[in-house]
Amino acid sequence: MIKTCLKNGQEVIIRLPQKEDAQQMIDFYNVVGGETNFLSFGKNEFSMSLNEYEKFLEVTKKVDNSIVVVATVNDEIISIASITSGQKARTKHVGTFGIVVSKKYCGLGLGVKLMDYLMDWSKSNGVTKKISLVTNEENTVAIELYKKFGFEVDCILKKDNYVNGEYLNTVIMSILF
Ligand SMILES: CC(C)(COP(=O)(O)OP(=O)(O)OC[C@H]1O[C@@H](n2cnc3c(N)ncnc32)[C@H](O)[C@@H]1OP(=O)(O)O)[C@@H](O)C(=O)NCCC(=O)NCCS
Repeated sequence: MIKTCLKNGQEVIIRLPQKEDAQQMIDFYNVVGGETNFLSFGKNEFSMSLNEYEKFLEVTKKVDNSIVVVATVNDEIISIASITSGQKARTKHVGTFGIVVSKKYCGLGLGVKLMDYLMDWSKSNGVTKKISLVTNEENTVAIELYKKFGFEVDCILKKDNYVNGEYLNTVIMSILF
């Protein structure tokens, strides 16, 4: 667990989630899905049931190459960030990165803190050699954040996303250790 401060001075805790957090995490995803066009799902479209998500958290805790962290302010979840990897010998060195910060807490330095934490964790878990991520071409804030940490663009998937009547390109980025 890490206690740190946002740029506005508010105290934030970054920690591993417990099984009991699962429902609040699902609720969080269902809300933030409606706050941004840059997630793969919209409002109330998070696809996992409580049981499935509890199992996902449980399995994630048991493996060396996956991690989920939550950031909280006064016990309210304001961000979830993760690196998830499979267990097959040929691909377990590759992690997939995901992050979302609640809209009212964006721009307060939390994205940088979570990236710092997850990059350090990835470099020291003994398995991960590459992290990939998928983002939207118009998500310039996220793309700049990822570049700051050394991610490079692998490729563009043309018109891979359909948001508000518009087809948008998807950007695949990665970093190698
Ligand atoms: C992308 C996201 C995770 C960044 O988190 P954040 O907490 O807002 O990021 P930070 O406050 O740490 O800022 C990170 C960098 O982004 C840039 N940035 C932040 N807010 C910005 C703004 N309003 N305009 C331009 N650049 C901005 C800055 O370069 C900043 O770095 P700096 O503080 O060293 O200057 C967050 O905006 C988010 O969750 N967005 C919606 C969901 C999403 O897009 N997820 C990623 C899907 S791939």
